Amino acid sequence: MFTKELYQYFIKKETPFYYYDMELLRESLEKLKQASGKYNYEVHYAIKANANDYILEMIKNFGFGADCVSGNEVKKAVETGISPEKIVFSGVGKSDNEILYAIDKSIFSFNSESIEEIEVINEWGNKKHKIVPVSLRLNPDIDAITHKYLTTGLPENKFGIPLQFLDNVIQNVQQMENIKLVGIHFHIGSQIRELSPYIELCEKVNSIQDVLFEKYKIIPDHINLGGGLGINYEDPDSELIPDFNNFFGTIHQHLKLRKNQKIHFELGRSVVGQVGSLISRVLYIKKGLNKNFMILDAGMTDLIRPALYGAQHKIQNISKPEAQIINYKYDVVGPVCESSDSFDDNVMLPMTSRGDLVAIRSTGAYGEIMVSQYTLRDKPGTLYSDKIKFDKSIPKKSNLK
Ligand code: LLP
Repeated sequence: MFTKELYQYFIKKETPFYYYDMELLRESLEKLKQASGKYNYEVHYAIKANANDYILEMIKNFGFGADCVSGNEVKKAVETGISPEKIVFSGVGKSDNEILYAIDKSIFSFNSESIEEIEVINEWGNKKHKIVPVSLRLNPDIDAITHKYLTTGLPENKFGIPLQFLDNVIQNVQQMENIKLVGIHFHIGSQIRELSPYIELCEKVNSIQDVLFEKYKIIPDHINLGGGLGINYEDPDSELIPDFNNFFGTIHQHLKLRKNQKIHFELGRSVVGQVGSLISRVLYIKKGLNKNFMILDAGMTDLIRPALYGAQHKIQNISKPEAQIINYKYDVVGPVCESSDSFDDNVMLPMTSRGDLVAIRSTGAYGEIMVSQYTLRDKPGTLYSDKIKFDKSIPKKSNLK
């Protein structure tokens, strides 16, 4: 991924910065398009994973829709040129302003998670003289076999309508004049590496469909299975593009559809995760009592996943790509005044010195978008593989004089 030429380019740049491999993004999108197109599945890219303009532009050009979880994401999708007919709006607590904005834009569907919110959408629909399309986000009680902060389909999670309330919600919604029930929606979690939770989800959906039809003669126009497909963080190079064929093939095999029903997905991480790397410079190798601390110029403000979830990303010293001996152990940490500002402990790397460049891999999803300016740190810069020839200015210059 990092050629000598690229390294020579990086070394002259101010760090830290996110580097995006746009060829890999293109290839991933091509594979995704092919694999989903085979079954006529609709993919709404989950903007929350990465809302970088240049990346969104390419995703839009492939014709994918958008999954948004805030009014500003809906706005971003619209401004990017994604047709409102391809925009879905999820989230457990949409404000009145956000609801109003999305109604005005006539988006494809609100994914709603409570009768309380649907009542508010109905009121706004009434005031605006619009029939608003709504899908019910149901909580299917499925263990997604992932990190506890990344699971969303269990009863203890705040997300979704419990299946036990389904009757009550349907009966209520049927009374609402400005709501059109168009679909059912699920999102069971993120970074899901096993397909078994999805098989379980398909089986649940099959039985929910039976109930909806037998009791209410309802056949939802669409079924949205959310996102969640995981990526290989341990060994990114062995799996730069997730196996979309296997994913969609498994769904196709287990989900029983009724006539004219369409399946939708909201994939985020699997689309952009492997495309980004955070490039950082080693500030110091600090000797501890019984540890070696590798202090980087990137910290938790640039990539919060390790501090927030204990997430592990592959860390590579790209200044020593050909080093034969990898026998030094480092705790790789950031410069922020927080003990949780650590990327990983006991990382085996070649002997590293001040000034070396380090790549923190698989940071295309939930990396740049979660940047903060805690301790008034500057935001990291960005570099795109296909702009390198032309771009002389980025990354940013330090404000310090
Ligand atoms: N749809 C809904 C309703 C979601 O809440 C999410 C992610 C997605 C789709 C996209 O899921 P994906 O395909 O990316 O797994 N910040 C965390 C991940 C939080 C995911 C939240 N929801 C992380 O860094 O791992």
